[in-house]
Amino acid sequence: MRVDVFTLFPAWFEWFTTQRHVRNAIELGHKLEFVDLRSTTPLGAGQVDDTPYGGGAGMVIRVDVVEAALAARYGDSRTDARRTIALAPGGRPFDDALAAELAAEEQLTLLCGRYEGFDERVHEHLATDVVSIGRYVLSGGELAAMVVCDALIRKLPGALGHMDSVVEESFSEALEGAPEYPHYTRPFDWHGHTVPEILLSGDHGRVREWRLARSRERGGPEGSAGGSEPV
Ligand code: 6GU
Repeated sequence: MRVDVFTLFPAWFEWFTTQRHVRNAIELGHKLEFVDLRSTTPLGAGQVDDTPYGGGAGMVIRVDVVEAALAARYGDSRTDARRTIALAPGGRPFDDALAAELAAEEQLTLLCGRYEGFDERVHEHLATDVVSIGRYVLSGGELAAMVVCDALIRKLPGALGHMDSVVEESFSEALEGAPEYPHYTRPFDWHGHTVPEILLSGDHGRVREWRLARSRERGGPEGSAGGSEPV
């Protein structure tokens, strides 16, 4: 898979690309590249944003700047050519299902906004999706892009050491969309808080049943970590 992240702050991603699973994905042949939106701006003096029509606080990233960046990279800015995700707080909520869907794309483009975000025409005409990582406001799309990339990379075969840890992780189909069951390791007794005996039984069938039951208790797709709502 090839992921291009368009941002005004490519340096933010340097730390991200040093992480083990990210490096693994790159060694496996996946591409993760960062494109500086400022480097291709058609405006003078590296300008990328402008004051909002109608007034108000903050600056808005111009649609012609994003168009020029896409055209410089791909030769066009067509939305039918590749999946293009604008990251914005008001977008479609990012979840495990969307992560799996995006991980299946061969080419993915992420657009990180800053300031007050993108001109709405970026969402409407240059992006195929607008995605949010939660109902709070970040100063820009960069951290959201890292969240999206991290969740996607976990889905790429071979990026993690053990593929099993992805198959049966929280919100996966194997766990019926529920959060993962609890994990324990040594010491067995910690200040009187012991590990459930069944995990030491060596009975894989019963361990599996116990884990599925704990996962279900923690809630299905609509459930919260504290347990599912009564229906
Ligand atoms: Cl994708 N961007 C920004 N700026 N804030 C957010 C977000 C994205 N998701 C939640 N808050």
